[in-house]
This record gives sequence, structure tokens and C-alpha cells, in this order.
Amino acid sequence: MNHQLTPYFTKLKEYAKKDRVPLDVPGHKMGLFYNDMTSILGEELFKFDVNAPDGLDNLNVPKGVIKEAQALFADAFQAEHAFFLTGGTTLGILALIMSTAKAKEKIIMPRNVHKSIISALIMSGAIPIFVEPVIDEDLGIANHMPLDALKKQIALHPDAKAVLVINPTYFGVASNMKEIVDITHQHHMLVLADEAHGSHMVFSDALPMTAMQAGADLSATSIHKTSGSLTQSSAILAQGSRFDYQRLVATIHMVQSTSPSALLLASLDVARKAMYFQASEKIQTLLPKVRDIIFKINKLKGLKAYTKEDFLNQGATHFDETKLIIKVSGLGLTGFEMYHILSEKFDIQVELAETNLVLCVLSVGTTDQHLERLYVACKTLSEQYSNQVLNVASYKPKGNFPEAYVRPRSAYHAPTRNVKYEDAVGEIAAESVMIYPPGIPILIPGEIIDQALVDELLFYISQGSTILSESEQGYFKVVDKLTWPKWEEIDNEL
Ligand SMILES: Cc1ncc(COP(=O)(O)O)c(C=O)c1O
Repeated sequence: MNHQLTPYFTKLKEYAKKDRVPLDVPGHKMGLFYNDMTSILGEELFKFDVNAPDGLDNLNVPKGVIKEAQALFADAFQAEHAFFLTGGTTLGILALIMSTAKAKEKIIMPRNVHKSIISALIMSGAIPIFVEPVIDEDLGIANHMPLDALKKQIALHPDAKAVLVINPTYFGVASNMKEIVDITHQHHMLVLADEAHGSHMVFSDALPMTAMQAGADLSATSIHKTSGSLTQSSAILAQGSRFDYQRLVATIHMVQSTSPSALLLASLDVARKAMYFQASEKIQTLLPKVRDIIFKINKLKGLKAYTKEDFLNQGATHFDETKLIIKVSGLGLTGFEMYHILSEKFDIQVELAETNLVLCVLSVGTTDQHLERLYVACKTLSEQYSNQVLNVASYKPKGNFPEAYVRPRSAYHAPTRNVKYEDAVGEIAAESVMIYPPGIPILIPGEIIDQALVDELLFYISQGSTILSESEQGYFKVVDKLTWPKWEEIDNEL
């Protein structure tokens, strides 16, 4: 295939140059209705922001330039089919799960899944069968899905429709994708992958194998996160004949906008070309530099940067070395404090903070100057803080997740009431609660609230973390058991 071509972007450029009378939407009429953005970003941007005019194909029934762009994209990402998404990987996850499992059908997955998966479980009504991920006590994060625990759940639930794998986790840790695919297919289940953080991996042998390379059926991947397209542009990748193609397409149509952004579609087209020609070399050049900065940071007092070997020693199959994890608690700082210091004093924006660490996401766009400035900041802070008395938060991540009482959809549709944190132990959650980022729920609808969960939440609040939930801070939305005495009956109806 000719990867020099950018069918959609090329046609869009031609369209934007025409002297067209725009009697269609959008209402800014190719930038003629000025607003504050027009003067900063220019009319040109708005000229490209068209809906689905003649000649630019239709994302829901692609027959022209979108079809061609998707075919090139599938080829570059080593899949048979690619479906462009303008609502992020969140939308891809919804489509993957809703097209795979109906209400009360089971999907096996690790518990450290992203909120979009919980939303998909509520919408589909599927029952999650959770596998406890390996918890890294030192860092306080959840890592890969252990193969033995997965095998156990497959044996206990042979009727499950699919196994979902996070490849890799937000922190870059990869499970044994190849073996998971083999075992899962032997049991006639589909393999779905959340590759929100792994779209770039296909371009380097030094990085973990992608779901498509391992033979998985479906993957949802955020091109915007690590492959250079505009934010919210993602894709579903698919291959083989195990999944229901028609149902997948129908489900994508259900959740996708009927007015997809042309800018996002074009950015997927051009990002594919750029990655196809440049990513391999850029990643090859980047990785030794990452190892070098890890080595240098590890010479600084109070800081520890994590190597691939650190995760392999915990049983992970692979690690995406474009994720740089720095443990900062040895400086007497929490990750949250470090996050703010780096931002305010050094103009460095890291991806996220956790209790003990900060996570930097590096990519094909990372420059030597970025790494150098990070190192200088680490060195300065090490000199400034490493001699202070350690009084870091005494909180120790609890290392397990609450127990489930009913599937997420049942609790979501149950009658609810609000209870204060201190009165909530023993209640059944009717909402998800998560720290953002990473957006991995610490509580999901249907789980029983325990004291450890309340303590965890209070700790995150004390650290100034953003808590995402439906309730006002200090309260949980829980199932009102008094008006929900026959939940089994209600459960049967949903
Ligand atoms: C593990 C994981 N899955 C899925 C998503 C959703 O991706 P998107 O932001 O592209 O909707 C995210 C977003 O951060 C994520 O971290």
C-alpha cells in the first residue's frame, strides 16, 4: 500500500481551498462568523472544520476517501479493519463491549480498568468477572494481569464471551498478550484490548506486542495519546472472523456522533502516515535516551526512576519504556506535591501523580530538551529536598478492590440514596468513584463500600486530587436497600 497517500486529508485540503457557498452546517460557515478563536487560530482552521460535504465521504457508510484512509490505517497498525473514532477510545471501548456481550453475559477483565469500561458494562448489562491485577506495593499502583489468575477465572466461567486486556496499563506494564490470546481462543472467547496507551507500540520491536500482533480480535486505541493525532481521535482495530462484524459496525454507529469532526478524521489520516514513516526510527532513538535519564535520575538522592527490569522482576511480560515513572517519596514529597512543584517552578507538565510517584508520558514528539529539563528539575529538587526529614503521607495503598454484590447495571438502575462517607461502610455503591487521572475507578456500582475504601478516598482528598463521582464530596450514592428488597427480581428485568 502507498503510505505516502493521505486520501481524506488531501480531499479536505482541496475542499477548503474551493470558493464554496456553505449552505450546510457547521454554522461558522468555514470561519466567516468570527469568534475569539478565529483571530488566534486563523480562518484556515475553520475552513477545514466541515461536516460531511459532497466528496468527503461519510464515516458511517464509508465508500470513498474515508474508506481508503481507514484501509491504509489498518495496514499501518497491522489489522484487517480500522474504524475511525472521534469520541476517543472511550467510544471504542463502548462499542467493543456492547457488541460482544449482552445483558448478563460475562466478560473477564482485570479490576484496574478505566471508567469507560465500567460505563460500557452499565450500558450493556454484562457481568464483569474480575481478575485481581498484580499490585506494586512499593509504587502503589496496579500492574499486569497474572496468567494463572486469568486461567482460573476462565475455568470457573467457561461461558464468558470475552477476555479484555489492558495493553499496556497507564503505567506501561504489559501482560502476556500472546498467551492470553492463545488460551482465550482455545476457550472460544474473544480477546478485546484496551490499547489507549499503546497505539505506538506496533512501530517498535523493543516495545510490547500489540493486541493485533498477538492475534487478538478487537482493540480500541488512542492515536491521540501516543501517536500524534489530535485529542479525541482514536480507532478500533479488528481482525479475523470470530467477532460479529455487522454488530460491531452497528454499535459504533450507535455511539459515534453523526457529525464527526473532519479535523479529527484528517489528523488520524496524517498521523498514520507520519507514524508509518517516522515512528520506528524516532522510538529507536528515544529509548536509549530514556534509559540514560533513568540511570542519571537513579544517581540522585531521594529519587528512583523505574526500569523495564523492575517490572519484569514482578512477572510482567513487557514494559513500554516510553512511560517514565519516577518515585519521589524518598524526597519527603508525595507525587501530588511533586506534580505541582514541577508545574509551577519548572514549567514541566507530567501526565499524572500518584501517592508516591509521577508519571511522564514520552513519545515520538519528545525532544532532548524535554528530557534535559526534566533531569535538571529532578537534580535541583533532589539537592533541595533530599536532606529533609521524611514525613511523607503515611497512607499505604490498600492493594485490593472492594467486593462485588451485584453487576454494575443492576446497582446503577436501583433506587438510591446519599450517605456520608463515615456512614457508608457496608452499603452497595450505585456510582463509580475515581481519582482523575488515571480515571481507574476505586469503586464501581454494585461493589460493597468498606473502611479501606473510605480511608483511601479521604487520603486522596487530603492530597488535593480530583475525585470524579456523581455525588457531592463527602457523600456516596448508594443503593437504597429499603426500597430495593427484591433486587434479584429487578435484576432479572434489566
Ligand atoms: C486505560 C484507559 N483506557 C481508556 C481510556 C479512554 O481513552 P480516551 O481518553 O481516548 O477516550 C483511557 C484514558 O485515559 C485510559 O487511560
